[in-house]
Amino acid sequence: MGLFNSLIVCFLITFSIFHSSQAQDSPQDYLNAHNEARRQIGVGSMTWDNKLEAFAQNYANKRIGDCRMQHSSGPYGENLAVGYPQLHAAGAVKMWVNENQWYNYNTNTCAPEKVCGHYTQVVWQNSVRLGCARVRCNNGSYFIICNYDPPGNWRGKRPYGDLEEQQLAFDSKLELPSDV
Ligand SMILES: *[C@@H]1O[C@H](CO)[C@@H](O)[C@H](O)[C@H]1NC(C)=O
Repeated sequence: MGLFNSLIVCFLITFSIFHSSQAQDSPQDYLNAHNEARRQIGVGSMTWDNKLEAFAQNYANKRIGDCRMQHSSGPYGENLAVGYPQLHAAGAVKMWVNENQWYNYNTNTCAPEKVCGHYTQVVWQNSVRLGCARVRCNNGSYFIICNYDPPGNWRGKRPYGDLEEQQLAFDSKLELPSDV
C-alpha cells in the first residue's frame, strides 16, 4: 500500500472513531434515555432545546479544569455526572435513572441516606425541554450535564401524577355548578 492509501485509511479510522463517539452523545442519545425512563411510568416525552444545550455546553466548558460535580446555580433543573475512563450519554442517564430504586412514590421521599433527585428530575412531568453537554476534563474524567426546563424537583410536589393536584382539579370542577 502506498503512502497516499495509508493516509486515507488513517483518516477513515480517525473519522470513524470520532464519528462513533459522537454518535453515542448526540441529542437523540440523551433524549432516548430520558424518554424511555418517562415512557415506562407513563410520562410524556421531552424535546431537545438548543438554548439549553448552549447553556449546558457553556457550563461544562467551565468545569474542564477541575471536573467538580458543582452545580451551575442557573435557572434550570440540572443533573451532573462524572465518569472515568469513559462516560457517555446513555451511561450517565442510566446512573440517574437507577436511583428509582431509592424513590418511594407514596411518601414522595428517597430512602434514608440515599439520593434519588436525579431520577425525579429525569421523570419530572412538567420538565419538557432538555439540553445536555459532555466534556473531557483535564484530569481525564468525563463531565456530563443535562439541563431541564421548566426545572423539576419542587419541594412537596411529586414528579408526576401528583395526587394533590388531581384532587384540587377535581374539587374545583365540582364547585363550578354551585357558582352558577
Ligand atoms: C477528576 O476530578 C474529579 C473532581 O475532583 C474527580 O471526581 C475525578 O475522580 C477525577 N478523575 C480522575 C481520573 O482522577
